[in-house]
Amino acid sequence: MPDDHAAPPPLDPAAFAARYGPRALVAGGANGMGAEYCRQIAAMGIDLVVLDRDEAALATTASELRAMPGAVDVVTAVVDLGQPMEQLLDAVRRVIGDLEIGLLVTNAAWSPVGPFIETDLAALVAAIDINCRAPVVLTHELGSRMAARARGGIIVMSSLAAETGTANVALYSATKAFDLVLAEGLWYELRGRGVDVVAIRPGSTRTPSWQSTQPASGDLKGVMEPAAVVADALAALGTTPSIAAGSANRAAEAMFRSMTRRDVIELMSGITSRLVPPDASRA
Ligand SMILES: NC(=O)c1ccc[n+]([C@@H]2O[C@H](COP(=O)([O-])OP(=O)(O)OC[C@H]3O[C@@H](n4cnc5c(N)ncnc54)[C@H](OP(=O)(O)O)[C@@H]3O)[C@@H](O)[C@H]2O)c1
Repeated sequence: MPDDHAAPPPLDPAAFAARYGPRALVAGGANGMGAEYCRQIAAMGIDLVVLDRDEAALATTASELRAMPGAVDVVTAVVDLGQPMEQLLDAVRRVIGDLEIGLLVTNAAWSPVGPFIETDLAALVAAIDINCRAPVVLTHELGSRMAARARGGIIVMSSLAAETGTANVALYSATKAFDLVLAEGLWYELRGRGVDVVAIRPGSTRTPSWQSTQPASGDLKGVMEPAAVVADALAALGTTPSIAAGSANRAAEAMFRSMTRRDVIELMSGITSRLVPPDASRA
């Protein structure tokens, strides 16, 4: 993990649970950062609903959560977050029933990697479904329930890639810009309704999906660990509309703002052009 002098002070679990309990829903919670959200939220005594399409990893993560000291209640469901609106809403409502969700994390995402016009159009549209439509459906459904109770929090996973268009992942960076802008607008709309919203912009973070797109001779400098990103995200909720995870990524963003947009696109595209396609079966 890079030395991050700006790591946030530890949260007060009781205060966090009082504000964002009694239960969190993590969409895409089986692996990587999603599973880490589950761990850190469970450690604060908040029950969980965990949705994911990866059934095996979901079962493993749920067992780990149930084995934690002072284990919280964990509900899991295999749900494809990329399915059309009506079906997704039905699936989410069936899983939640009348459980009170005080915290939503829209974590799941999919990124086709490769030149845009050579990428299967269906895969590009599937990424819009997962990365954009699902967060819209979830924030609308759960945000309105939270606003009715005047209490809750929503964490939307964006990316440093939202800062600019980038080659090889042009569609992905566009979806992350959508997530960022959506969350920032909701931050303003919902703050007067008792609901905190924050968008998180991680840079490279060591997760299975990140790993699956790295070139064999990848330069791993500056990669964050999921635990550090999630700690930053949980600490940022209720304090800001959006934030880059980690001091190195915040410094990178500050540098981008001192550059021309064209130069930022060139710089970022030089890095993202080296990414390789993940296993196509995961799309
Ligand atoms: N890792 C990074 O470097 C990085 C950098 C910037 C931003 N982010 C953002 O951070 C978030 C999480 O990062 P990550 O991508 O590395 O993933 P992750 O947290 O390691 O895992 C995401 C989980 O979501 C699941 N998922 C994907 N599509 C789904 C669908 N249609 N229905 C249900 N579950 C689905 C994945 O299942 P599968 O394993 O089957 O796909 C996986 O279990 C994403 O929003 C990503 O855009 C990541």
